[in-house]
Amino acid sequence: MDLDKQARDILTGNDRGGYTIPTRGLYPYQWNWDSAFAAWGFSTFDVNRAWTEIETLFSAQWDTGMVPHIVFWKPDPGYFPGPDVWGTGRKPASSGISQPPVAATLVRRIYEADPEAGLARLRPLWPQLLASHRWWRDHRCASGVAAVTHPWESGRDNCADWDPGMANVDGSGVGAYTRRDTGHVDASMRPSKEDYDRYLAILQFGRACGWDQAEIIANGPFLMADPAMTFILIRAHRDLAAIGEILGETTAEIEGWADDLVAALPQIWNDESEAYDARDLRTGTFAGCLGSGAFLAWLAGIDAPKMEARLQAVWDGVRFGIPSNDPAAANFNPRRYWRGPTWPVVNALIAMGFAQAGRAADAERLRRETVALIEAGGFFEYFDPIDGTPCGGDHFTWTAAIWLAWASPAAKRG
Ligand code: SER
Repeated sequence: MDLDKQARDILTGNDRGGYTIPTRGLYPYQWNWDSAFAAWGFSTFDVNRAWTEIETLFSAQWDTGMVPHIVFWKPDPGYFPGPDVWGTGRKPASSGISQPPVAATLVRRIYEADPEAGLARLRPLWPQLLASHRWWRDHRCASGVAAVTHPWESGRDNCADWDPGMANVDGSGVGAYTRRDTGHVDASMRPSKEDYDRYLAILQFGRACGWDQAEIIANGPFLMADPAMTFILIRAHRDLAAIGEILGETTAEIEGWADDLVAALPQIWNDESEAYDARDLRTGTFAGCLGSGAFLAWLAGIDAPKMEARLQAVWDGVRFGIPSNDPAAANFNPRRYWRGPTWPVVNALIAMGFAQAGRAADAERLRRETVALIEAGGFFEYFDPIDGTPCGGDHFTWTAAIWLAWASPAAKRG
């Protein structure tokens, strides 16, 4: 069984011509951060195709600078909510929120894999990447750290981090709808009906105000500060600045954006749990959740010795990978999407942070645990971190991509 070949076959099999779907059936469109990871995977065997993936994604960028979280290139009734529900009126049709901005970090890696081929592709992307980072700065970081206006924007839809914010969203008036996700995947591995009602209520608010960001920030039903997004964005700003240096551009402003986020980190330090924590910006309430967010600190070059012992216990509390929620928490569920499972793609990001922090043994442990899951279970979307059961979608693009770029014994890590 050649897992490298299987992974390449998954990427090429999910290729829809210029963009890659995360998996057939469950996610039939182009997703923002999935595509950035797909590009990283493609860069290990077809660097031209890697650049195309990013170019296609950014061709859907809004004139505001926002890169939408889904681009609906071709109609597909197998997914809900589709373009008609979002009603953004954009061409190409897209959703009205964004997703974690990992593009600059992965574009930098793709460039470094083959600088000669990459320079001509990198240059036209510069203004697009810069505009998207400015959008994050202007529309999501006004309160200090990075905030999300919808759980879907975080990419970690139903994680326990969002419980305080979701508790205040009224989902009772969203009307009748039919979910499609539970037709593809066991419902016990997906968000609940109450979650979906609230997701739709937040969506309907955005749609009703014509996706006016000032209105969404001021009066939208959901606004939470997110450690994961903040750490990803700090790292992305630094990587964008490095790209700017390569291109001979001025980068002081971008470095300033990263510094401002670092300076604002005390806003999401929870003294009670002694860790970085998600926080409801409407009420000030902390989630009290030890999950992927805190583990991403190292990705941003942030060292927080005070939370080390607790994070270690979270990791040691499971057998495989870093869980998306503390296994000791009452709301931990090892198979329900982001309420406990381990996600190979997040493990890859966390390991990038470990490597940067000089924690080579942690990076290697996390890689080995992720390898064990994929070897035994295949290229699934996420896994039960206790018994390794594969969960969610199969033949999954980002799991195949991080296999090729990071987890595989043949991967060039660095
Ligand atoms: N992750 C969401 C879904 O499951 C949308 O981004 O459909």
